[in-house]
Amino acid sequence: MSVRRKTTHSLRKQYERGEKIVWTTCYDATFARLVEKAEIDVILIGDSLGNVIQGHSTTLPVSVDDIVYHSRAVARGCDRPHIVADMPFMSYQANADDGLRAAGRMLKEGRAQSVKIEGGEVFAPLVRRMTQAGIAVCGHLGFTPQSVHKFGGYRIQGKSEDAATEMIKDARALADAGIHMLVLEMVPADVAKRVTEAIDIPTIGIGAGTDVDGQVLVLQDILGLNSDFKPKFVKHFASLEQSVIDALQEYKKEVRESTFPNDDFSF
Ligand code: KIV
Repeated sequence: MSVRRKTTHSLRKQYERGEKIVWTTCYDATFARLVEKAEIDVILIGDSLGNVIQGHSTTLPVSVDDIVYHSRAVARGCDRPHIVADMPFMSYQANADDGLRAAGRMLKEGRAQSVKIEGGEVFAPLVRRMTQAGIAVCGHLGFTPQSVHKFGGYRIQGKSEDAATEMIKDARALADAGIHMLVLEMVPADVAKRVTEAIDIPTIGIGAGTDVDGQVLVLQDILGLNSDFKPKFVKHFASLEQSVIDALQEYKKEVRESTFPNDDFSF
């Protein structure tokens, strides 16, 4: 059976059919293969890899090289999901030329089909330049983790009427500039609904309620690989943390007892 990569065009058709678009993050080929088997639509090589892969407390230290490396690994592991590479902190904020070149690397070296940037209307000119250069761009509003220090922590965004109005204005400006999907993170559900109604492109929620056009969660959170990390919007769809510990403890026990490898596993 031939497998076709999800494209901006096929994702648009899915949105027009009213079928929710499902994203997850992923950072390596092993999990990319499983994400593909689960028929997830979009893989985000999120700068959340700074937290879940590199062990940092924020996404700020992640580099363009890091995203390119993980994006390439993911691309080797799957043929079907649409691959979105996150543009890390300071790869596009200082000037548009930097942003354009970094985005180019995501496609050329990281083999991504889209890039994602955080931030509002101020980045509309950059989105325009990227799309003019043939690069598909996703936006990200609400709680944008690269601005964690400006926000003063992990806080819900868009709570006041002024902030909600500003978010809708940002969403319109980015959509007009050419983004093809918009992530809304930690936004009150009614505000996410208003943003979704204000623009004609899919909105993808994370902590943004259900009146959006799709959802994204970090893979490690979906799988329950860290039971200590449980913000309100995260649902653990499995509890793999304990399964992994159990498997490793059983392995250790059998090695110590010399019951592994027995004849079945020996030459
Ligand atoms: O980096 C990331 O994983 C993200 C998602 C949380 C949307 O940006």
